[in-house]
Amino acid sequence: MNKSEALLELRDVSHGYSLRAGATLRVIENLSLEVRFNEFLGIVGPSGCGKSTILRIMAGLIKPLSGVVTFRGSILNGTTPRISLMHQIPPLLPWLTVRENIALALIARDDLTEEEKRLKVTQFLELVELTGYDSAYPYELSGGMKQRVALARALVTDPDLLLLDEPFSNLDPLTSLSLSREIEYMWLESTLPPISVVMVSHNIEEVVMLADRIIVLGSRPARILAEVPIEMQRPRNKKSEEFYRLVDEVFSLIS
Ligand SMILES: Nc1ncnc2c1ncn2[C@@H]1O[C@H](COP(=O)(O)OP(=O)(O)OP(=O)(O)O)[C@@H](O)[C@H]1O
Ligand SMILES: [Mg+2]
Repeated sequence: MNKSEALLELRDVSHGYSLRAGATLRVIENLSLEVRFNEFLGIVGPSGCGKSTILRIMAGLIKPLSGVVTFRGSILNGTTPRISLMHQIPPLLPWLTVRENIALALIARDDLTEEEKRLKVTQFLELVELTGYDSAYPYELSGGMKQRVALARALVTDPDLLLLDEPFSNLDPLTSLSLSREIEYMWLESTLPPISVVMVSHNIEEVVMLADRIIVLGSRPARILAEVPIEMQRPRNKKSEEFYRLVDEVFSLIS
């Protein structure tokens, strides 16, 4: 594996949405960025600047109006099981249990036996600390637990690239902290997927906690204002001077 080569690359990507009046809302304009191998990339920017759109393009869910997306050196045409997206609002199916919602991601995997699938789901239920909730339904879960189910569903396919869209939104500070720890554990535990992670978040502290590099976007259409490398050793101390300085630096770039 060539480590200097990007795992995923957006080159000159532009996208917009058609408005009812026939006009186009320009959301991304000539955006170029790369997700490197073994990198935890953070993306921050003002609300509505196009962050979720960028993740949907990276996941192959949206084809950009122009520009090229390459994944492992080949053009990305549509979704692939090698890239998982954890959506901003977890789209869990209300009539399926927690276990069934996670197993849904493995439904098309003919290479795994039913028993292997069951074991995999159990492994990831354990990772997100939901052991014992196998047969619960989404309505019985708190917001944080739903986010955890979504994280397990995104990971159970062993993706090379995990895209996290606001994993801490709508969570109270304590739940957010424990989910952040789980993501960090997943990242530091080298036996687990993925190779690289891209996380979009409003929570600057959490991004500085987790990312190797932060891309700061300006308001719509999304463009890169700055790139901040985070070279602090892990696990990072939120009370250290260096941590404060980095949080402050990112804050002042977006405000
Ligand atoms: N499917 C769609 N159709 C039309 N407009 C859309 C669609 N999805 C997003 N938009 C618009 O595109 C812009 C960017 O949306 P996007 O969800 O990518 O922003 P965001 O940075 O993720 O915002 P937030 O931080 O609030 O999650 C917004 O103005 C939004 O209204
Ligand atoms: Mg969004």
